[in-house]
Amino acid sequence: PVQRIDIVSIFPEYFAPLGLSLVGKAVASGLLAVDVHDLRDWTHDRHRTVDDTPYGGGAGMVMKPEPWGEALDALVDPEQPPVLVVPTPSGVPFTQALAHEWAHEPRLLFACGRYEGIDARVMDHARTRMQVREVSLGDYVLNGGEVAVLAMVEAVVRLIPGVIGNPESLVEESYAEGQDGLLEYPVYTKPASWRGLEVPPVLLSGDHGKVDAWRREQSLDRTRARRPDLLAAEGAVADAS
Ligand code: ADE
Repeated sequence: PVQRIDIVSIFPEYFAPLGLSLVGKAVASGLLAVDVHDLRDWTHDRHRTVDDTPYGGGAGMVMKPEPWGEALDALVDPEQPPVLVVPTPSGVPFTQALAHEWAHEPRLLFACGRYEGIDARVMDHARTRMQVREVSLGDYVLNGGEVAVLAMVEAVVRLIPGVIGNPESLVEESYAEGQDGLLEYPVYTKPASWRGLEVPPVLLSGDHGKVDAWRREQSLDRTRARRPDLLAAEGAVADAS
């Protein structure tokens, strides 16, 4: 499982929330080390410059390769290289499958780009010594990789054995294997009647077979309405239509 996560960013303050909640507890309990580094620590000029204009022209700025190269030299142990994760809207989609994969890696290094991105030679050079994954959180554009890294770190860390109190909650939820790739069904708690709205009676029936069948139907209805692409996907549940 993941033992250490390094994050490099020009905005280390973005990662204060990693001290809270689930990730904070995993770090406090010694299951995991998370270290956030300021990319500007690997600059040498007075202005601590990390960007420059793009070759070939065009709008915006590109992150210079030298600080990134030095950062990776300093943080990567050649004996145990990390998976280098570079969030970018032009990456492959980040999925629960990737979260599971990364939860098994001893080391992850997240490189947060800003502006129009990082000089592509940084990733090309890194690929000669470690796995590099350019990934996107979704089909929208963020200002930089920081928010994407917060999301990915949370998705990975909660899969580390011992981080979540009740491992059963990992099995049933959306995108977990136990759901056949369907979205999760709606959930209810007490009171049974609230503002004139009743909990579906089947859930109060005590008939576990009926409850399971109802939940499955709800999962299918939801998936059809919200994520028909999941039903079309290979390996989707056979009786989905
Ligand atoms: N950086 C900017 N936009 C992003 C996105 N959609 N996913 C991951 N990283 C990003």
